Amino acid sequence: MAAAGLCVTAAPFTKAAHVLGAVAAVLVLVWCICFRGGLALEHEDKNLIFNIHPVVTLIGFVILGSEAILIYKVFPTWDHDTAKRTHIILHGIATVLGAFGIYCAFKFHNEKGIANLYSLHSWFGMTTIVLYAIQWVFGFVNFFFPGASPGVRRAALPWHVLLGIFVYVLALVTTELGFLEKLTFLQVFVDLNKYGAEAFLVNITGLVVMLLGASVIVASVTPAHGKERPRDDYAPLPEEF
Ligand code: HEM
Ligand code: HEM
Repeated sequence: MAAAGLCVTAAPFTKAAHVLGAVAAVLVLVWCICFRGGLALEHEDKNLIFNIHPVVTLIGFVILGSEAILIYKVFPTWDHDTAKRTHIILHGIATVLGAFGIYCAFKFHNEKGIANLYSLHSWFGMTTIVLYAIQWVFGFVNFFFPGASPGVRRAALPWHVLLGIFVYVLALVTTELGFLEKLTFLQVFVDLNKYGAEAFLVNITGLVVMLLGASVIVASVTPAHGKERPRDDYAPLPEEF
């Protein structure tokens, strides 16, 4: 779905998004493994349980969610059904991993006796995962199975794209709030050097995530080629579905 008047194609932005996603994934892993002691689902050091949270929410939810959105622009020559299936599967995996990442944050809180859902970050996080799941179910029912009539699909598509971008932006904002909150905890409670290597690494990761989001949004509102694919190309649902 391209915005009128933008005289660029999606290709450079999809490439930038892949690179930025890979860089963000490496940075969050380096942070949690090299600076924060690693990841574990069961451990006496409960911080290792927490560490799964930023890794899985960023790589599994945000970066995979980015790739799911980009799919229509990365493979513009794929037939629409294949692109749709890949879009659904990637968003589905992202939703499950996002929920698992949140479960790890709750597990960490519960095992350490810390209160749940007291922060703006956690409120944004719950809102994001719930809206993301709702967006997925509506998308599935409307565009895939059982699928609405072609007229309804056409009318619903701009809303799907708009709300999809909105919930994606919510995920980005939640991520940034999470980085800020964790870094602030470390600076206040364990006296982490405000200008040290770790603080620098986390802030750079936040910047990379912001640039990733910008690239994905520009790619999603610009055409894959010089001109947009016609909007009336919804194939009838295959018999097996
Ligand atoms: C879209 C991605 C994310 C979502 C949906 C999300 C969601 C959540 C939720 C729902 C909680 C509350 C858990 C509870 O109350 O027991 C939480 C806690 C937390 N998250 Fe995230 N999170 C995300 C990314 C991140 C990232 C990247 C960080 C960076 C370190 C982070 C840092 C934290 C911290 C420090 C807590 C514990 C304090 C609190 O409850 O606010 N989060 N997160
Ligand atoms: C939370 C999950 C989802 C999010 C965040 C989301 C988001 C988006 C976004 C941002 C676009 C625009 C991409 C572009 O034009 O480059 C899009 C397109 C689309 N999505 Fe989703 N989507 C989700 C789930 C689904 C599901 C489950 C289906 C079921 C088939 C679906 C079907 C479609 C279709 C048919 C398009 C139009 C592609 C086109 O021809 O331009 N989406 N989605």
